[in-house]
Amino acid sequence: MSVNVIIGTQWGDEAKGKTIDILSAKSDAVIRAQGGNNAGHTVVADGVTYKLNLIPSGILHKGTLCMLGAGMVIDPRVLVTEMEKLSSYGITFENLKIDPRAHIVLPWHTELDRLSEAYRSKSNSSIGTTGRGIGPCYADKYERCGLRMYDLTHPDVFREKALATGELKNLFIEKVYGGKALDLEAIIAEYTDIGKKLLPYIDDVSVLAEKVIKDGKTLLLEGAQATLLDIDFGTYPYVTSSHPISAGVCNGAGVAPNVVDKVYGVAKAYTTRVGEGPFPTELFDETGDYIRNKGAEFGTTTGRPRRTGWFDAVIVRHAVRLNGITDLVIGKLDTLAGIDTLKICTSYRRSDGSIIDYFPSVLEELADCTPIYEEFCGFDDDITGCRTWEELPQVCKDYIMKLQGLIGTKVSMVGVGPDRLQQIEI
Ligand code: GDP
Ligand code: IMO
Ligand code: MG
Repeated sequence: MSVNVIIGTQWGDEAKGKTIDILSAKSDAVIRAQGGNNAGHTVVADGVTYKLNLIPSGILHKGTLCMLGAGMVIDPRVLVTEMEKLSSYGITFENLKIDPRAHIVLPWHTELDRLSEAYRSKSNSSIGTTGRGIGPCYADKYERCGLRMYDLTHPDVFREKALATGELKNLFIEKVYGGKALDLEAIIAEYTDIGKKLLPYIDDVSVLAEKVIKDGKTLLLEGAQATLLDIDFGTYPYVTSSHPISAGVCNGAGVAPNVVDKVYGVAKAYTTRVGEGPFPTELFDETGDYIRNKGAEFGTTTGRPRRTGWFDAVIVRHAVRLNGITDLVIGKLDTLAGIDTLKICTSYRRSDGSIIDYFPSVLEELADCTPIYEEFCGFDDDITGCRTWEELPQVCKDYIMKLQGLIGTKVSMVGVGPDRLQQIEI
């Protein structure tokens, strides 16, 4: 029996999808615990590229129980579309379960996400959200007026709650933002139909997870987003609205934290970020463009170009502390081939000359910091064909060992290409 968690250590898109897929093969059950279809997890297997937004990447392994936990915000329209798409690859859903407590993203959430971003853009303060209604849906959850999967799958309850909430949301859309009211009857008709399709999958994920654990099986908790996007410990307000750290993932799955064995923290061999917000090691030169193009750094969910920069050991140490990371996974090392000199940020220097090795708690303090770099010899070798640690060129091994030393946590996997086979276990 083991319970393992996978989380992102940077600003997302670290290649969690591939790692989840690899660990799912050794797991009996997988739970997605927080966030919604702001996530885009990619798995490349047998020549097919799967892009998963809501469904755990474990769905690709027949027989793995795949669950959507209570802490998620689920857009039901997107969920059924994702299921239809996966069906076309022959994937079936007899092992899919959705917690009745998970909140649902409704059209007013996506509309309010769009309107509030447009409003903020007038004062140059957009967050650069994915526009998937995530923030407004979590806001309703905490305001205690959200609709949940249970409501969606019970037409009378759904109608009553959707009308009550929808009328208020329409007032907001029209009177505050000057937008166009949504047609509530049309929404109720469409979502009642979707609710019927999803009813067979509703089950208590926390209870199912307990059974998996008691039966001595292996459970994987799939984190979405990443530590620096955490609502409390990320670069607030340029964050998402959930807790992507390991404690938040346990919470969203309904699994007690003391049963967790390993926490896998996934980091790219460099850093990327989508959307607005600070990024101390960001590159604005041709090296940044080189990494973007070579690493295909364009959003899985939105297609937006990702900002690129050097590996920042300060943020990954921040992630190790917050998540209790036991194993580091360094993704996309192959992308760095062809760069003469690599840089790693080891700590930050403040304007008064003092040096800190931890991530500042607020943006005002972060703005006073500049990264201190250590330079490192680059490599030209194509490492995408390497399958073992021994096969990696010495310079690559040195780079990985340098990261391990700076972060103080064992690196147990290294990515050398997008395919599930292109991951070296150490
Ligand atoms: P996630 O959100 O953390 O699951 O990551 P994404 O799927 O959004 O982005 C990671 C991208 O990198 C995807 O296009 C993956 O197919 C790709 N990828 C994963 N691992 C590797 C790797 O080791 N090397 C390269 N070059 N690409 C990788
Ligand atoms: P995965 O799981 C990268 C970012 C958005 C934006 C901020 C808030 O694929 O790593 P939101 O729509 O959540 O309100 O947007 O968070 N963001 C992500 N960036 N990967 C993700 O997920 C992300 N999910 C949200 O770009 O800056
Ligand atoms: Mg992604």
